[in-house]
Amino acid sequence: MSRAGRFIVLEGLDGAGTTTQSRLLGERLRGLGRRAHVTAEPSGGPVGALLRQVLQQRINGGGGGGFDPSALALLFAADRLDHLSAEVLPRLAAGEDVISDRYTLSSLAYQSLTTGDARWVAEVNGLARAPDLTIFLRVRARLALVRRRGAGTTPELYEVDAFQRRVARSYERALVSLRASGQRIAVLDGEQPVAQVADAVAALVAALRRR
Ligand code: TMP
Repeated sequence: MSRAGRFIVLEGLDGAGTTTQSRLLGERLRGLGRRAHVTAEPSGGPVGALLRQVLQQRINGGGGGGFDPSALALLFAADRLDHLSAEVLPRLAAGEDVISDRYTLSSLAYQSLTTGDARWVAEVNGLARAPDLTIFLRVRARLALVRRRGAGTTPELYEVDAFQRRVARSYERALVSLRASGQRIAVLDGEQPVAQVADAVAALVAALRRR
């Protein structure tokens, strides 16, 4: 029987480098001869596609204005469960490592702010299996902003500077509560050069294998 793969999550502010580091980790693991699948949330599934439209501000809520924050929090949670059952769990069961660019910690950080109810956000995400490791790339909101501007993409719903500064603090609170719940979390200095961060991520994942 093949051994289950490892479920690794990369987290951080918009501009923290989670997408780049997810891709590099996937490449590194494949270079070591492992099967590794890189994915992201919002996912490529139907709920994820809807969320992408909301984030790009292409669609509004039913009343024509912004989406209700609690409805949006439920969509993120629903996408997570669909992503898990359709993509993540089958691959883990087949022995593949799965790397997700964002997962529950994003909801705990962002939706706790937008809904004002961190406990409820944790509750609606209660069915989402815990990752084997969540790696938080800590980057100051100021630097994340410089990186987002450098990328030159159209700002999405949450890519507003004042909000991102609040998200940075919200992540720190969410890290504490996730740790208290027994989840395995590592924090890395995401302000280091890309290659250095990639080495640190790979070292954490290698240590996980020896557990
Ligand atoms: P990204 O694809 O650039 O990471 O953008 C996804 C955006 O969605 C980012 O602003 C974070 C936000 N988000 C949440 O607010 N809650 C969540 O649960 C997830 C997965 C993402």
